[in-house]
Amino acid sequence: MDCRVMCVVLLSFLLCAYAEHVKYVDCGSIEGKVLDVDIGPCPQQPCQLHKGQSYRVNVTFSSNVVSETSKAVVHGVIAGVPVPFPIPCDDGCKSGIQCPIQEKKIYSYVNQLSVKNEYPSMKLVVEWELRDQVSKDLFCIKFPVQIMN
Ligand SMILES: *[C@@H]1O[C@H](CO)[C@@H](O)[C@H](O)[C@H]1NC(C)=O
Repeated sequence: MDCRVMCVVLLSFLLCAYAEHVKYVDCGSIEGKVLDVDIGPCPQQPCQLHKGQSYRVNVTFSSNVVSETSKAVVHGVIAGVPVPFPIPCDDGCKSGIQCPIQEKKIYSYVNQLSVKNEYPSMKLVVEWELRDQVSKDLFCIKFPVQIMN
């Protein structure tokens, strides 16, 4: 194989390992439409989240509504039961989104998911919602993760 081709192949492998388009389930994005979900680094799925590390969550969506505000609500679904998962900054307008949100525009919501050392090692489903000014979901996504040492 040509050396340059090899370089491109290697590079795309590295980039893929860094930010993965994650398989997700839409759990009711009524005021928007999810276009892409990226978690990084997440070289294999379900994403393996190591304690003491931080992961970038990037949800790209288009909005169907106008909204002055946006608020993220995160749950960890453990054995089917959603448990509230507080995040340090739940203001979507401070997480890569320029507010007010306009109709038919595309936004990327970017935040960090910090995995604390005291979390138990387990598999769970993360449910991440972004609510508009009337508390309806701009997006709602679910993706499986595995918390490990
Ligand atoms: C988020 O994802 C979108 C679409 O894939 C991309 O254009 C954007 O650069 C990403 N933003 C960050 C901060 O990673």
